[in-house]
Amino acid sequence: MSRSAESASPSRIGHRGFAAKIMDADAAAALIRAGDTVGMSGFTGAGYPKAVPQALARRIEQIHAAGDPFAIRVWTGASTGPELDGALAKAKGIDFRLPYNSDPYAREQINAGTMQYMDMHLSQVAPMAWQGFLGPLDVALIEVSAILPDGSAVPSSSVGNNKTWLDRADRVILEVNSWQSAALEGMHDIYYGTALPPHRVPIPLLAPRDRIGQPTFRIDPDKVVAVVQTDTPDRNAPFKAPDAAAHAIAGHLMEFLAHEVKLGRLPRSLLPIQSGVGNIANAVLLGLNDSAFEPMTAYTEVLQDGMLELLASGKLSMASATAFSLSPEAADLLNRDMALYRDRIVLRPQEISNHPEVVRRLGCLAMNGMIEADIYGNVNSTHLMGSRIQNGIGGSGDFARNAYISMFMAPSTAKGGKISTIVPQVSHVDHINQDVQVIVTDQGLADLRGLAPKQRAQAVIANCVHPDYRDQLADYYARALHDSYGKHTPTLLAEALSWHQRFVETGTMRA
Ligand code: COA
Repeated sequence: MSRSAESASPSRIGHRGFAAKIMDADAAAALIRAGDTVGMSGFTGAGYPKAVPQALARRIEQIHAAGDPFAIRVWTGASTGPELDGALAKAKGIDFRLPYNSDPYAREQINAGTMQYMDMHLSQVAPMAWQGFLGPLDVALIEVSAILPDGSAVPSSSVGNNKTWLDRADRVILEVNSWQSAALEGMHDIYYGTALPPHRVPIPLLAPRDRIGQPTFRIDPDKVVAVVQTDTPDRNAPFKAPDAAAHAIAGHLMEFLAHEVKLGRLPRSLLPIQSGVGNIANAVLLGLNDSAFEPMTAYTEVLQDGMLELLASGKLSMASATAFSLSPEAADLLNRDMALYRDRIVLRPQEISNHPEVVRRLGCLAMNGMIEADIYGNVNSTHLMGSRIQNGIGGSGDFARNAYISMFMAPSTAKGGKISTIVPQVSHVDHINQDVQVIVTDQGLADLRGLAPKQRAQAVIANCVHPDYRDQLADYYARALHDSYGKHTPTLLAEALSWHQRFVETGTMRA
């Protein structure tokens, strides 16, 4: 529940120079100009600014009502909340967005072609901002949980790209959110050692629990133009209770991992877990809680409810991420017991939480959701029917290419059975088959390691396809084996893509 800004604790702003810049959200929003690029905090509904974007949206609506144009370019860590993407999209105030979106209003405008959206590997955003390819950054608008007497800032429930935005922007606006637990202080590890080639050096992180930076952000006080006090919760969307498909997927994965342990290919504590976003990923974490694997670690992007449960049960000894992504109940629990969790969670900048070098070194077990996979193991994580974006690639590419084992999961059908998530050819490729080692649906699991294309197709058709589509796919594949131009990756090009077109035209992929 949001409390009034006036009741926000003044002790959260321990530096006089910053306290002198306190103003309300409307006054701070007035400092953002049309055409500005604004780097905002926020990652999966955690730690995003809540007051200034809404004030800016109101201002934009007034400007539009007067017949004048006004839009900004928005960069973030990843998805945010309705007070940011939702409010600004409704006001038609964003003309360019990167690197990830899951807001329904922004998605509608992106798919209508009225908002430009650059969907990026999340580890690459900060380096690319420094390289200059993204253009100048006018304003950093960052939520923090406190400003310390030395002028450094305690991050809030996500770190994302905040360090880069604070360093790179010309002007800085801070929202100090006293809803965030004061006990967050000490949980973060902000690494300041990154550099561009030829000055890049190895990231000195050898285990998920390593701390290689400092607990706070450095901020140049001369750049700070406004400090706004808030007391507002993160978005914190509830998770659906796992359904039968999610339980089945989790079961297949647990069996696979247990088999790998039995064969001596994985230790009993597994390797650091990376778990993607969404309900299925959360269900898999719950499955891990009932498993014999321990003590596990996680080197991942976001901490969902299931990770907290694993930490609470002791199955997980520690977790490294860049953000929380919790249900309201789990957020309340975390806020209450933050001091208990603080020593077992490290929140890092996303360029480190998702760093390919570190993911490869640690040997992460990557488990990510997908929209669809094809019989050869190419995966689409982002686009519906090849052209409508759902969310974005997020960190799935950072982890999939560099993981020890890269696993993708989805129910075998979507849209009430009208779509098969296993298709002859994906309608859009995010993860090429070389980056995909395991595909799992509620029907079963296909272990594609060491298999050539035709062997992969047989494994996927035999194990992952829903019975309603198995004959249709087997028939397609048999004809492709016979009639395809090449016999290495047998494909009937027009027919393969007609599965998607059939859904667009008739509302089902069924032949
Ligand atoms: N064709 C068409 N629509 C499909 C589909 C398919 N093959 N598969 C799913 N959908 C639709 C669903 O029907 C649903 O639409 P609705 O909201 O209108 O009902 C929507 O896509 C989301 O599907 P859902 O089953 O709820 O997905 P989820 O919560 O398990 O998320 C992804 C799946 C792929 C969208 C999600 O994992 C994602 O965005 N991944 C990319 C980013 C990522 O992996 N991040 C983690 C990195 S650390």
